[in-house]
Amino acid sequence: MPQRVLTTESGAPVADNQNSATAGVGGPILLQDQHLLEKLARFNRERIPERVVHARGSGAYGYFEVTDDVTGFTSADFLSEVGKKTETFLRFSTVADSLGGADAVRDPRGFALKFYTEEGNYDLVGNNTPVFFIKDPIKFPDFIHSQKRDPFTGKQEADNVWDFWAHAPEATHQITWLMGDRGIPASYRHMNGYGSHTYQWTNAQGEAFFVKYHFKTNQGIRSLSAEQGAELAGQDANSHQTDLLQAIERGVNPSWTLYVQVMPAAEAADYRFNPFDLTKVWPHKDYPLQRVGRLVLDRNPDNVFAEVEQAAFSPNNFVPGIGPSPDKMLQGRLFAYADAHRYRLGVNHTQLPVNAPKATEADNYGRDGLMATNAQARGAKNYEPNSYDGPAETGRPLAAPLAVSGHTGTHEAPAHTKDDDFFQAGELYRLMSEDEKKRLVANIAGGLSQVTRDDVVEKNLAHFHAADTDYGKRVEDAVRALRED
Ligand code: HEM
Repeated sequence: MPQRVLTTESGAPVADNQNSATAGVGGPILLQDQHLLEKLARFNRERIPERVVHARGSGAYGYFEVTDDVTGFTSADFLSEVGKKTETFLRFSTVADSLGGADAVRDPRGFALKFYTEEGNYDLVGNNTPVFFIKDPIKFPDFIHSQKRDPFTGKQEADNVWDFWAHAPEATHQITWLMGDRGIPASYRHMNGYGSHTYQWTNAQGEAFFVKYHFKTNQGIRSLSAEQGAELAGQDANSHQTDLLQAIERGVNPSWTLYVQVMPAAEAADYRFNPFDLTKVWPHKDYPLQRVGRLVLDRNPDNVFAEVEQAAFSPNNFVPGIGPSPDKMLQGRLFAYADAHRYRLGVNHTQLPVNAPKATEADNYGRDGLMATNAQARGAKNYEPNSYDGPAETGRPLAAPLAVSGHTGTHEAPAHTKDDDFFQAGELYRLMSEDEKKRLVANIAGGLSQVTRDDVVEKNLAHFHAADTDYGKRVEDAVRALRED
């Protein structure tokens, strides 16, 4: 095979890639050395802003296969037939640390899934936890500021983490989850994924259902203790990335079984928990899990930057048969993601191969912008309606309309009969074995005891007391013992 020729970006052959051009043998460099200038300038521009949260992640392609008939609940085409397969891309992530952080840390894990369906891309951007810390998106920037590095000390501060939680009693459920045994997954393969929010499904008859997604790992749940996590994070910051990459390279393809909980829309108003409150689960005895299909990851991306760093998921990428619920957190997210992508990747991020539809094509009147690559047919009109056979609307809504009532205003989420910030946290605690309780209490006390202000400690203790008397007492004793040391 003939030797390939190294070229500049405009395709001209490069004569010397080892020595820059100088004025004379020992003289200064010449501005006319195009190859040198281009090489240094491009290198300076290799990095783009990292994600403001979930900066650190790993991704893989695969497929979703329907195993059970769910056409009674949704008209979504990719779920329309048992045996139907749809290509997918999944990006896992940690949340709080920056791109250079470690994988084996106590933090929720992102579980962002893109289905490349024949009716457009459907993004389900979830976590490995069924609930979240807050229930109103207006708190999200404050929450994240309190968990990431402090602007003065440049590191995560227990004072900030717990001060935010002192003011967010609704976080008690998720804190109990995060500080428990599943708080540090052993790898991305050994954890579940959840849509977390309630979404809407609409069937072909136009009937609406509310659903929650559960992806159960077929590898089994495996987690690390606080000590194991600290050791592994120190030894190999990339432990999750290595595990996922190597498993798929070896042909050990990880898989998850998708289940949904389905609530007929008419039951939402009187359910004992507000079904649109992201800090609550629906107990399985109220709404049992129903199997839908199987997700398999079987292909590593060829280039991490192009396909994982530039992957863009947006919770408002729905397909016909699936839509949002009135969950306020979800509603906030419907704005936040595409806005983040326009800043981080640019307005044409949807044209990058990992983000573009694969089983259909985007066909609309959006035009131009930085780095536009989509070439419309010659003479295609860039306005609508038009008389030239351009793409036209279908008139078919994606999901059923939902009734609303009341006055505009900054309302708190409506409380249903069993709603408070603590009941479900207490239920989770009471489900744990004695050993699990001990580890949970030690993990909480390890963080809370580092807080410098007594009033912040007291407010947090009050939340654990409110969840369960035994839980509160044990955390209090453990914190006091550590603070007296
Ligand atoms: C109002 C609340 C929230 C806001 C405003 C928000 C905002 C964001 C933003 C701006 C990003 C970075 C996007 C990017 O640059 O690519 C992000 C990433 C992410 N968020 Fe959220 N988020 C919220 C809540 C949640 C919740 C509740 C979940 C899970 C149930 C979640 C899961 C994720 C995941 C998995 C990613 C990473 C996506 C990827 O892999 O590219 N977020 N979020």
